[in-house]
Amino acid sequence: MGWLLPLVVAVFVCNAFAHQIPFFRHGLDSIEEHTRVATAFKLRHVFHHGTGANTTLHRRLDVSEPSAFESTSEFYLSAVSKNVTRLSQRDPDFMESYVAYTRRPGFIKITGFDWIHERIRTPNISDPETLTTMARMTSDAYVGVPQSKDWLDVGAPFNESLGFGWDDKGVRGHIFTDDGNKTVVISIKGTSSTLFDNDGDTVTNDKINDNLLFSCCCARISYMWTTVCDCYEKSYTCSQSCLEDALYAEDKYYRALLDIYRNTTSLYPSATIWLTGHSLGGSMAALLGRTYGVPTVSFEAPPERLAAERLHLPFPPVPANESTIWHVGNTADPIYMGICNGPSSVCWVGGYAMETQCHSGLECVYDTVKDMKWHVSASSHRIKSVIDMIAAYNTTPTCVARTDCQDCFDWTFD
Ligand SMILES: *[C@@H]1O[C@H](CO)[C@@H](O)[C@H](O)[C@H]1NC(C)=O
Ligand SMILES: *[C@@H]1O[C@H](CO)[C@@H](O)[C@H](O)[C@H]1NC(C)=O
Ligand SMILES: *[C@@H]1O[C@H](CO)[C@@H](O)[C@H](O)[C@H]1NC(C)=O
Ligand SMILES: *[C@@H]1O[C@H](CO)[C@@H](O)[C@H](O)[C@H]1NC(C)=O
Ligand SMILES: *[C@@H]1O[C@H](CO)[C@@H](O)[C@H](O)[C@H]1NC(C)=O
Ligand SMILES: *[C@@H]1O[C@H](CO)[C@@H](O)[C@H](O)[C@H]1NC(C)=O
Ligand SMILES: *[C@@H]1O[C@H](CO)[C@@H](O)[C@H](O)[C@H]1NC(C)=O
Repeated sequence: MGWLLPLVVAVFVCNAFAHQIPFFRHGLDSIEEHTRVATAFKLRHVFHHGTGANTTLHRRLDVSEPSAFESTSEFYLSAVSKNVTRLSQRDPDFMESYVAYTRRPGFIKITGFDWIHERIRTPNISDPETLTTMARMTSDAYVGVPQSKDWLDVGAPFNESLGFGWDDKGVRGHIFTDDGNKTVVISIKGTSSTLFDNDGDTVTNDKINDNLLFSCCCARISYMWTTVCDCYEKSYTCSQSCLEDALYAEDKYYRALLDIYRNTTSLYPSATIWLTGHSLGGSMAALLGRTYGVPTVSFEAPPERLAAERLHLPFPPVPANESTIWHVGNTADPIYMGICNGPSSVCWVGGYAMETQCHSGLECVYDTVKDMKWHVSASSHRIKSVIDMIAAYNTTPTCVARTDCQDCFDWTFD
């Protein structure tokens, strides 16, 4: 826990200032352009949503016993206010019915969305400590083994035959709130592959979802691959509507995330929500962030723009450089860089079809290959490497929208 010490010192200093500088006490409420805010965040809840055969499993653990969780230690984030363009209507009822509508046969693309401009609090991406904190919020280290008796059902009534407990496959959302519950960070649990990380408990489901989200056509790489959907038609031709239905299916991750978001906003109806996640969790966070127009910071996320388009998520009519979706990553991570494909790649060997190239929103790329002589390898993808990396740099990279990017150009989607 060596990292805790500087944070504790920082807190002490901030608290000392708080008595002298009025805007500190107002915390994230203030929309002063140059307010630097450090507010303590704590893990409050963990949502667990089943997928696959366990789709109706949806439960919440309230973290009341700090000793059970490493992550109840406090976190500090800096906020900046930013003008954003997002849908005027964004409540879960509306957005879920929109997303469901796009799945209907004969769906007609909506062009007349009602966009509004608002000034909102967003994470200060220029602040290395803020990035470190968000990276820590995504870290698998925070998954302790809580007593399962504390899980509350928040979805359909509990069905014994679905099993019970922590080790289920599915999606997890870790909910952190600041002191006044004004800002809520949802951290989405990512890929647990032994290939990408060391925690193996959700591997099979994650692989199916990875291959659905980041491949051109259901992971139909060659005839030897097991496909994850049945949309391949003929040589380099794939059914678009089939792909869209597969992504949205009830038993897949995106649908599970909508429930977690709905439940979080119903617990904290007036809070500002931020999203984060690592790897698959980062891409899922970005899809959710785009759905609801909420600020999102992903770490080492595989490129998810194609999935966002297939889900018909709303893209605001503003230049991409004004996006509040930030994808933080490094040049030595083949998964983030969209180059983990081809027969010799570790992804291919592991059965992952990671074919996409383009992130939506902004990319914040640490050039670890050049600056730190890192070798391109899956170990540069790990969240622990990312936390070390952010600490090794004094500054954060400039975030840019890539304009020269095309996904699956050799495929025809009809
Ligand atoms: C954001 O963080 C940077 C780096 O710590 C800091 O210089 C800047 O003042 C912060 N911005 C705001 C608005 O707090
Ligand atoms: C942000 O929006 C407000 C009101 O909509 C406007 O007055 C202000 O100039 C905008 N600021 C920037 C930096 O675009
Ligand atoms: C419980 O789950 C099992 C397995 O999915 C299903 O067959 C059964 O109908 C469910 N029971 C209820 C009451 O929902
Ligand atoms: C459903 O939950 C049970 C009990 O935890 C688990 O053993 C099983 O693997 C899960 N099935 C799927 C498909 O996630
Ligand atoms: C914030 O939320 C937590 C958990 O829901 C609750 O225990 C706490 O009292 C709330 N604090 C404030 C200031 O509302
Ligand atoms: C949580 O989400 C589930 C699924 O959307 C919903 O059925 C349930 O009513 C929600 N509970 C709360 C408290 O929001
Ligand atoms: C985005 O890019 C446009 C030019 O394409 C520029 O005018 C604008 O200032 C940029 N906005 C931001 C927030 O960087």
